[in-house]
Amino acid sequence: MSLRSRLTAPEGGANARHRPPPGDAAGHLVPSFRAKLLEEIDLAEMSALTPQERRDRLERVLGHIISREGPVLATQDRESLIRRVVDEALGLGVLEPLLEDGTITEIMVNGPDQIYVERAGRVERVPVRFASTEQLMQTIERIVSTVNRRVDESNPMVDARLPSGERVNVIVPPLSLTGPTLTIRRFPRAYTLPELIGLGTLDEHIVALLSAVIRARFNVIVSGGTGSGKTTLLNALSGLIPEHERIITVEDAAELQLQQQHTIRLETRPPNVEGKGRITVRDLVRNSLRMRPDRIIVGEVRGGETLDMLQAMSTGHDGSLATVHANSAEDALTRLQTLASMSEVEIPFAALQDQINSAVDVLVQLARFPDGSRKVVEVTLLASQGREPFRIASVARFDARPMGADGRVYGEFAHLPLPRRAAQRLYLAGESVPPAFGVAGAEGELTTRRAGTHGDDPGSGDDPGSGYAPRSGAEPGSEPGSRPGSGSGAEPGSGAGPDSGPAAYSGGQAGRAGREVAE
Ligand SMILES: Nc1ncnc2c1ncn2[C@@H]1O[C@H](COP(=O)(O)OP(=O)(O)OP(=O)(O)O)[C@@H](O)[C@H]1O
Ligand SMILES: [Mg+2]
Repeated sequence: MSLRSRLTAPEGGANARHRPPPGDAAGHLVPSFRAKLLEEIDLAEMSALTPQERRDRLERVLGHIISREGPVLATQDRESLIRRVVDEALGLGVLEPLLEDGTITEIMVNGPDQIYVERAGRVERVPVRFASTEQLMQTIERIVSTVNRRVDESNPMVDARLPSGERVNVIVPPLSLTGPTLTIRRFPRAYTLPELIGLGTLDEHIVALLSAVIRARFNVIVSGGTGSGKTTLLNALSGLIPEHERIITVEDAAELQLQQQHTIRLETRPPNVEGKGRITVRDLVRNSLRMRPDRIIVGEVRGGETLDMLQAMSTGHDGSLATVHANSAEDALTRLQTLASMSEVEIPFAALQDQINSAVDVLVQLARFPDGSRKVVEVTLLASQGREPFRIASVARFDARPMGADGRVYGEFAHLPLPRRAAQRLYLAGESVPPAFGVAGAEGELTTRRAGTHGDDPGSGDDPGSGYAPRSGAEPGSEPGSRPGSGSGAEPGSGAGPDSGPAAYSGGQAGRAGREVAE
């Protein structure tokens, strides 16, 4: 009987441990032999084997254990015991069918009784459960053991990437009051830019602009909330880097799938059981600088490495890309500043402002919408210099229409003129400004707004369900320019864009040179 059919059969999983099927004399021995087997095997060695070799090896080791420790069993019972123990040791229980299901992008287990999945961007509860907390813990142990890690009270959090590419996060009691909690992100599909256009995430004009700025070695930060598609967009954008350049990627858990040949992938390492040997994103960013990179791509900045990355970006390693978790362009800048100040190097806040002003060129803001779609809600260029307060110029944004009865999000992308300085830099690099944008003529033609002065905690607004628009953004249908809490609306005297109206992303109904989002 296969693992899956055993698990999906009503007698499997939940009840099998308490009520062994008739004729299964050794059924009650399964948990103890499984524990003994896990004690005896060398996890590091196991992870290097193919699935068939792993099964063969487990069967052999278990055969030895049964011979050594008894009890004496009839051949049939002995074989059945071995098969069941190995099935359990290799399988992932009730999660197996969910993992098999290609339409599921995320599996969330909140204790033994609640399992949610994400399909097509929507989260739904599935009618399966683990038999007990103990069974869930066993499954968790099995998952993390494939990457040579352990979960227990002294090590209650694990974040890892499985050999198959899935990203797994585990947090167990006492830290999790809900019970053992497991989050599995399926290996994200690598979308190409044309595919993202097809999904309505951005339009071809925005792609043309991003292509130009990446080729011209602008530093680009992709920002967005949890699951808003940052890594996916970063991956697609990295495809725009010319083939001859040497790219170094630095990630906590390697997710990027770059197509270029000359790519070096670096991944962090957690501490070992004695708490030693930890290699952080920061260590890797610093090391990457000594590897003659043409481009450094940091999967996500979350801490002190931000300072190293900003320094690299502003001192010769331009053309770098990174993502940051933030809910608007303003938040992203504040967040970068806060994260950079987390390094042990004491740098005055004003100096960090200077650093960010000279390092960051483009911010691409993503949001996840209630219908599961992900969209570039704004593209901004940094217009401030030196120690000036942050000032950003919105050059593209998504104007959502009020949601209709079908629950789907429609709207248009708007394109606004580029600041002269950015346009000049593009020209010097042999690139041109895509016609949909144009270049701001007089100062008044450029719409900028101040940012980074409100002291928000960007990490606090992380509600995946509320990713409709940046938190500080205007509500759909509200007056453009009224952006409470964001420091300011449009600058005085600004707003005379080529076809009217100051910038307010997401919500302005102005009929700009936008393209209908095909959905
Ligand atoms: N443009 C898109 N359209 C539809 N689905 C998308 C899009 N981008 C990403 N997704 C899906 O959303 C999920 C999350 O994507 P991704 O990992 O890129 O997000 P993220 O913002 O990097 O998440 P995290 O905050 O966890 O790092 C994946 O399942 C991915 O396939
Ligand atoms: Mg990501």
